[in-house]
Formats: sequence, C-alpha cells, structure tokens
Amino acid sequence: MSDLAKVNAAAKALDFVKDGMIVGLGTGSTSAHFVRLLGERVRQGLRVKGVPTSEATQALAEQHGVPLLNISQVTGIDIDVDGADEVDPQFRLIKGGGGALLREKIVAAASGAMIVIADESKAVETLGKFPLPIEVTRFGSSLTAQRIHDALRATGCEGHEVVLRVGGKGNDPMITDGGNYILDAQAKRIPDANELADALKRIAGVVEHGLFIGLAATVILGKDKGAEVRAR
Ligand code: 5RP
Repeated sequence: MSDLAKVNAAAKALDFVKDGMIVGLGTGSTSAHFVRLLGERVRQGLRVKGVPTSEATQALAEQHGVPLLNISQVTGIDIDVDGADEVDPQFRLIKGGGGALLREKIVAAASGAMIVIADESKAVETLGKFPLPIEVTRFGSSLTAQRIHDALRATGCEGHEVVLRVGGKGNDPMITDGGNYILDAQAKRIPDANELADALKRIAGVVEHGLFIGLAATVILGKDKGAEVRAR
C-alpha cells in the first residue's frame, strides 16, 4: 500500500485537533506522518501538547517541534491519534506491529476519543491475519507462550503459532520500551476477539495484548486520493 494513503489518513486527522488540546501521539509509520504534519501546524501557531506512546515517537515529536507532556503530568487526554495493523467493522483493532502496544493502550484508554489512522488495506472483515502482538514479561516467557497457545486453541483459533519477536542486537529478542518481550500469535483468523482478549488477560505473565476493543471512536482510512472517515 502506498505511503500516500497513510499521509492522507494522517492529514485528515488534523481536522479533529483543536487549539489547546492534549493529543496522544501514536507509534508507527502512519502516526509518524501525523506527528510531522502536527509539527507544521504548531509552527503556524496551533497550541497543543502531545503525549507520546513510545520513545521513538517522543524523539520524532521533539524533532518536529511538537511540545510534549509526560503521561505522569496529565489527568486526561483529549484525543489520541494512532495507527493500526487491522481494523474490523466493529472498530476492534490489532495493534502492536511496532511493539508499542502497552503505552498505546494506556494512552488510548485515557483519551476522550481514539482516532485511528490507517491505509485502507488495514480494514478487514475478521481480525487475525496480522499476527497478534502480546507483550509478556521476560521471566517465564516460554511458559507464558504455552498458555497463550492454549488460549488460542480454546477460543477457536486454528493452526496457530506463537513466536518470540526478534529484532534486538543480532538475532536477540526485541525488548519493548517497558523492558518486556513481544510474542506474536499467528492466529490466522480470530473467530471471537472479545473472548480471546478476556482469555489473554487472565494469563500470568501477559502484560498487555494488541486487541484494542471498545477504544476506537473514529477510523480514518486513507486512500491514494483522500480519506474516508468512519465514526461509531
Ligand atoms: C505500533 C502500532 C502501529 O500503529 C501499527 O503497527 C501500524 O503501523 P503503521 O502505521 O506503520 O502501518 O500499533 O505498535
């Protein structure tokens, strides 16, 4: 999918940003376009404060001159603008392709409205083709992987695999901003996302999972020309 579609989604999200707002800043390539465009608006006089969802987004926002607040300095966030790996017709999401799902979910849950920006290829009928990222403690991660495997089977996912994400130095496991591992659950198709989300939450060692349910208020799907806004 072209970068233009991501830029168009990000540009449309600017319509939702009003002077004086505290804005959650997502992570990933689509969110990076939004941060860059927001920086342009700030230079033109828009007064906003951003709350970044990753170290990478913090660095990018600083580079583009978006004033920032630390999450510990806020009691609420007006809107959150973030990308997604998949979005279904009920606005349930898979997130965490960039490994930032824990902070992304905390910021989304603290926001008055989560606005999802994605190219149109991310819209799916059923979640699960994109491997579901799950953040787990390093301690006991292979046991946690087995429990995740059990949860996938119990909730009707077939032919699944749970894979430790690499991407650190050499072939080392990737370490999240929170100091944890990511397990990618290749479920192929998640027949009941709510049931799987509940099951994952009950597993000791799971810090957070990439199913975002009941959080997105608006989905902006970017196309090569323009963007479609869908609201719940
Ligand atoms: C990062 C995320 C991203 O929002 C998601 O992976 C989409 O990324 P991109 O905009 O690069 O397609 O959840 O943890």
